[in-house]
Amino acid sequence: MSASSGKLAIIGWPVSHSRSPLIHNHWLAARGEAPVYQPYPIDPKDDFRRALEQMAEAGFVGANVTVPHKEAAFNAMDALSAAAEKIGAVNTISFEGGRLRGANTDGDGFVASLDAAMQAASGQDWRRQPALVLGAGGAARAIIVALGAAGVPAIRVVNRSRDKAEALTGLADNMHIDDWSARTRMTEGCGLLVNTTSLGMVGQPALEMPEAALGALCPRALICDIVYAPLETPLLRAARASGHIGVDGLGMLLQQAALSFEIWRGERPPVNAALRDKLIADLAQEA
Ligand SMILES: NC(=O)c1ccc[n+]([C@@H]2O[C@H](COP(=O)([O-])OP(=O)(O)OC[C@H]3O[C@@H](n4cnc5c(N)ncnc54)[C@H](OP(=O)(O)O)[C@@H]3O)[C@@H](O)[C@H]2O)c1
Repeated sequence: MSASSGKLAIIGWPVSHSRSPLIHNHWLAARGEAPVYQPYPIDPKDDFRRALEQMAEAGFVGANVTVPHKEAAFNAMDALSAAAEKIGAVNTISFEGGRLRGANTDGDGFVASLDAAMQAASGQDWRRQPALVLGAGGAARAIIVALGAAGVPAIRVVNRSRDKAEALTGLADNMHIDDWSARTRMTEGCGLLVNTTSLGMVGQPALEMPEAALGALCPRALICDIVYAPLETPLLRAARASGHIGVDGLGMLLQQAALSFEIWRGERPPVNAALRDKLIADLAQEA
């Protein structure tokens, strides 16, 4: 079976809620291919490497990986992309004739979503000013690595558990770590503020960022909330009200998927309004 026609999957536990099948099957249909991208649950108690070998035997050529398996996937690979190696997690697996190659497209997908938003709003180049990252979980790791690779001059990181933020030291140059309570005074002069915590998500408290803290950002800064349920979080509402450029989490979700698809099919699919609208309609059914 060639890499351009084999089966694809999203691996997780649970995984039935994932929107990845909708996204990838949309792109497969546009290429005239059957909807061969499917959810693939793997119990964390199972032998993860063995489960991947069974997938290869069953004709899978690629898979995305989501919670809770990204670190297990990292440990199960025969080869890793430079980004996956640095992040310490894998979100994209290619089954290459018995060998497993791991990549991580989360950070580059995040950067692509910022560039798309900046272009659409004719904003300033976010790469030129410091960035403030809220959170120090898996998503933050990928984002910090990508911001470092993009040449952002300073990356300020705050997290509720400061020790977890300290553990990220070295992921990029010019990182500055501080207490969670310092977030309101660390926005000064930043061109980018990104919330990578679960605050603001359905069922979670809102992220508190006073108006004055948003006012201290550069004019027309990018404020991104990678949470996408709800699509318009209180942070994004406040961002737009204060004249900044709000970037929702669907951009990252779609762009990281496009980069994975390109790895498997050799062609970057379009991230356009039609697909975004389809995804929003699907998310609305659940709300
Ligand atoms: N748009 C996308 O494509 C995309 C991709 C990945 C993730 N996400 C979203 O990003 C969020 C984080 O994902 P993740 O995988 O990084 O999760 P994670 O590894 O579990 O990290 C969760 C982060 O949220 C912080 N947090 C949780 N509750 C908090 C609270 N009450 N106050 C302050 N901080 C709190 C945690 O701080 P502590 O360290 O102190 O616990 C940690 O920094 C989720 O909402 C997820 O859905 C979106």
